[in-house]
Amino acid sequence: MIYATMRSIASYIPQRCVSNFDLEKLVDTSDEWITKRTGIKTRYFASENEASSDLATKAGEIALKRAGLEPSDIDLVIVATLSPDYVGMPSTACITSYNLGIENKPAFDITTACTGFIYLLSIAKAYIQAGMYQNILIIGAEKISSLLDFTDRSTCVLFGDGAGAAVISATQDPNEAILDVHISANGRYNDFLMTPGCGSRNPANQHIIDSNLQFIQMKGNETFKLAVKTLAQDVEHILQHNAIHPSEIKFFIPHQANLRIISAVGEMLDFQKDQVVVTVDRFGNTSAASIPMAINSIYEENKLHKGDLILLDAFGGGLTWGSALLRFGGNPL
Ligand code: COA
Repeated sequence: MIYATMRSIASYIPQRCVSNFDLEKLVDTSDEWITKRTGIKTRYFASENEASSDLATKAGEIALKRAGLEPSDIDLVIVATLSPDYVGMPSTACITSYNLGIENKPAFDITTACTGFIYLLSIAKAYIQAGMYQNILIIGAEKISSLLDFTDRSTCVLFGDGAGAAVISATQDPNEAILDVHISANGRYNDFLMTPGCGSRNPANQHIIDSNLQFIQMKGNETFKLAVKTLAQDVEHILQHNAIHPSEIKFFIPHQANLRIISAVGEMLDFQKDQVVVTVDRFGNTSAASIPMAINSIYEENKLHKGDLILLDAFGGGLTWGSALLRFGGNPL
């Protein structure tokens, strides 16, 4: 039997750390409000000359090294991003592959917003279990600061930039397997989170730009309520489907959008505090990069070991959501 395993994990965090106090100078907000409503204290922004593919390349390089693989060993590269280098083409995955020295291999992007990494796992697992590929590089990479309206305090304080990468490989060993991945979507709520301008619906023109429609807009309150309900149901479903009790999970690693969402879901599902991984305080919401960046943070702290059972869960624009249960397959640092 062929299984898929997460052979390595890595991340790249841009240099520039932006605190809530820095944002107080830009919009009418306060460290107190941001901390109380979101749990975020800092986030990192890429520099002007860095694009999402630059962040993806740096995370991808480390993921390859940690998997003990050469660029020529990679059969496919997939990037999840809502902040691609270019609106249409080329894909961020094509540029990232080239930067990494991976040529003449398939590469494509997916757009599932903050659920990006769960969708990537689902795709990689399916390709590997179908016997088509041996090693797939998956990357969540975001320069969300390029999509933020710094006159809108309700969104610009929430997000950060970064990239997280993993090599997903074929294995015969069930003790390091990705056990189950569940993905779903409902376009009924497509206007909860969106970048309304500069696509084919509202092509770029002076009015679009003057109205800031190229930036992220969010119905925060509605999104919050639906996120808590959907995430809790989704986690319950995947645990039940695999006959696993929350106490058997070493780490619950939810998408990092808001500490209040993470705490509410964690409590509804009876996870202990030390099971729940939180990085939103440091990185803000890095969308498709948030889950691999969070996995990488416990890996680099030497808390995550080969065979550990972890549960991932995400929710994002589209709307999209999903969860994954897996035994980590990476070697110690
Ligand atoms: N600083 C200070 N005040 C702010 C603010 C900011 N950065 N942003 C909003 N406010 C104000 C609002 O203007 C509003 O003021 P009013 O009552 O005078 O009108 C008040 O704070 C409450 O706004 P509200 O939007 O109801 O706050 P909230 O408690 O819902 O928190 C979010 C806002 C965005 C933090 C929260 O809704 C959220 O996290 N939503 C989901 C985010 C998410 O998960 N997104 C991505 C999914 S991947």
